Amino acid sequence: MTPPELVLLILLLLSLTLLGLAARAILRRSDEALRQVERIRDLESRMAELEKLVALREAGLDLADDAVLYLDGRRRIQYLNRAAEEMIGPRRGQVLTDAVRDRDLDSLLRRSIAEGQGQSAVLQLDWPPRLVRASVSLLGPSGILVVLSDQTELRRLQQVRRELVANVSHELRTPLASLQVLVDTLIGGAVDDSEARDQFLSELREQVGHMSELVRKSLHLAALESGRLESEFEQLEPRELVEPVVSRLRRRFERAGIRLEVEVPNDLPRVRADADQIGQVLTNLLENALRWTPKEGTVRICAEDRGEVVRFRVSDSGPGIPSEALPRLFERFYKADSARSGEGTGLGLAIAKHTVLLHGGEIWAESRASEGATFYFTLPTA
Ligand SMILES: Nc1ncnc2c1ncn2[C@@H]1O[C@H](COP(=O)(O)OP(=O)(O)OP(=O)(O)O)[C@@H](O)[C@H]1O
Ligand SMILES: [Mg+2]
Repeated sequence: MTPPELVLLILLLLSLTLLGLAARAILRRSDEALRQVERIRDLESRMAELEKLVALREAGLDLADDAVLYLDGRRRIQYLNRAAEEMIGPRRGQVLTDAVRDRDLDSLLRRSIAEGQGQSAVLQLDWPPRLVRASVSLLGPSGILVVLSDQTELRRLQQVRRELVANVSHELRTPLASLQVLVDTLIGGAVDDSEARDQFLSELREQVGHMSELVRKSLHLAALESGRLESEFEQLEPRELVEPVVSRLRRRFERAGIRLEVEVPNDLPRVRADADQIGQVLTNLLENALRWTPKEGTVRICAEDRGEVVRFRVSDSGPGIPSEALPRLFERFYKADSARSGEGTGLGLAIAKHTVLLHGGEIWAESRASEGATFYFTLPTA
């Protein structure tokens, strides 16, 4: 091998070695790049998981009935769930006490922060005008969680219950007093007089019956008012609602000498109703009409298609209802003519109103002096 050839060979070997080194370096780099890419992918999928978790938690919080707010260290709203938005509007970014204007809430927050400990209190907010239980929790050095749970409905229910108890006790007082008199008279000797005894006993039975009706209807109304009544809504033809009630009451109309006319066409649209509950509404309207219509009078029950609703109508040829009494008829225990409606509880129409409202319908009465009374109610079509 000549010297120039040797030099060439050495140069060749050298460049091959260099090439090898370069190739290895490049390969190492691309390995690293691949690892980097994998790391980024991993991070991305973790981010997606995290986003999913956050979304899931927010969706969960949105289902809550309580207003949940997360504040930063400067008491600005960073997050609020749906209930909070419904209560105070979309106030993200605002300082809480600008969005909910209330001194007591402000001092609850300050106290919690100053004492480094969560606190809670029942507050009557100035705006929005709500009664709430406010709970403040401190999350880490600068995060504050505020939960406002609305007590307005709870208080309303407590109020309803209190009024009901007061009303029922008041209404029970009269029949209880008559019971007392009847029992005292019986014990005082009437028990030995068979005629007087039978009369007193039948009065006793009537009073007891009235009292148990009063209690039964009061409980029914209380369940309706507090939303505790369980309903079984079905798609029913209007005549399926009317016919059972009419056949149950027909004999009583016959005995009272009152004509009962039924006009419920077969081709009416179906309505969404709880058959038992609407049956009780119709029963009360027909029993009222029966009670107030004189012998040889007429009571009519009709149903007609009014587009989105079916309208039921019960009219009678009785004395009618004075116009000043019309707006109060659906109040509980209200009797337009207490002398004549003695045997009733005064709860039938209050129950009817709540039942119809629960069904998404409306109920009202019309009457002109001495032209009889007409009651209407509607039920949405199914
Ligand atoms: N068809 C009617 N004609 C005249 N007055 C009526 C008629 N329907 C209702 N009223 C008046 O409305 C009042 C309230 O009726 P509601 O059905 O609520 O109670 P009630 O019939 O007295 O008691 P209950 O329904 O428990 O038997 C009645 O006491 C009566 O004064
Ligand atoms: Mg009645």
